[in-house]
Amino acid sequence: MSHPLGAVPRIETVAKMPGHWLLAKMGKRVLRPGGRELTERLLRELQIEPIDDVVEFAPGLGETTRLTLTRRPATYTAVERDQAAASEVSRLLTGPHQRCVPGTAEQTGLGSESATVVYGEAMLSMQPPSAKAKIVNEAARLLRADGRYGIHELCLQPDDVPGEIRHAIAADLSDEIHVGVRPLTLAEWRALLESAGFVISNVDLAPMHLLEPLRVIRDEGLPRALRFAFNVARTPAARRRVLTMRCVFRKYRRHLAAVAIVAIKTKED
Ligand SMILES: C[S@@+](CC[C@H](N)C(=O)[O-])C[C@H]1O[C@@H](n2cnc3c(N)ncnc32)[C@H](O)[C@@H]1O
Repeated sequence: MSHPLGAVPRIETVAKMPGHWLLAKMGKRVLRPGGRELTERLLRELQIEPIDDVVEFAPGLGETTRLTLTRRPATYTAVERDQAAASEVSRLLTGPHQRCVPGTAEQTGLGSESATVVYGEAMLSMQPPSAKAKIVNEAARLLRADGRYGIHELCLQPDDVPGEIRHAIAADLSDEIHVGVRPLTLAEWRALLESAGFVISNVDLAPMHLLEPLRVIRDEGLPRALRFAFNVARTPAARRRVLTMRCVFRKYRRHLAAVAIVAIKTKED
């Protein structure tokens, strides 16, 4: 059985790898909290057209890349720090103005004002505060005036979520996903974008149902959802971790959501 990022890992690897790569190893391709539907809503709001120069931060396995390329942007550049994922995405890129550069969204090395659209999904929530700010500022640097920046991330609810719940969520998610996960409230996501000179143009929320069976079927389609379930079932260490992750998401369902925001870079004075 082949998996996007190689063979099914050994038990000790499964126990330690970041949650999103564990899910990918088991055959899951949609790795963002609001699923395919929230991605499609985000792309509709970004209104990508053939005149656009698009930069995608952290494409992962390239699920959104495929959707973006159907809109035939003038140029498409992905920036991905994981080498295996970057190779996977590169396989989808066939046009002369499409590329995936290995690197980080904090410092892409791309030209200033070289893009009309920048977006990234399920990649800011896992960064510490200073990296979040750097990435959002990098998006602002890359965009021309009036350019659109889209994010799709985990969101804490409500805006005045008690500090102890915030800390418990961050600790439980980090323990189970094995990546520091630091979601923000909607007000904090807005403030982060506004601090880099963006004006919020659209906010869209969805439930955090990444590992709920119905969402998995809707995101992956029935054949791949069944393959994912089969792979998880036959790998005991993966089964333990996936069930524990789902348990954490359920435990905090009142306080965790997915958010997609589109913000516009304002003209400089
Ligand atoms: C949870 S996956 C999400 C992938 C994809 N965006 C999606 O929604 O399916 C996180 C991805 O972000 C990438 N990533 C995390 N931090 C990054 C950074 N600072 N710069 C570039 N890529 C990053 C990881 O390598 C991984 O591919």
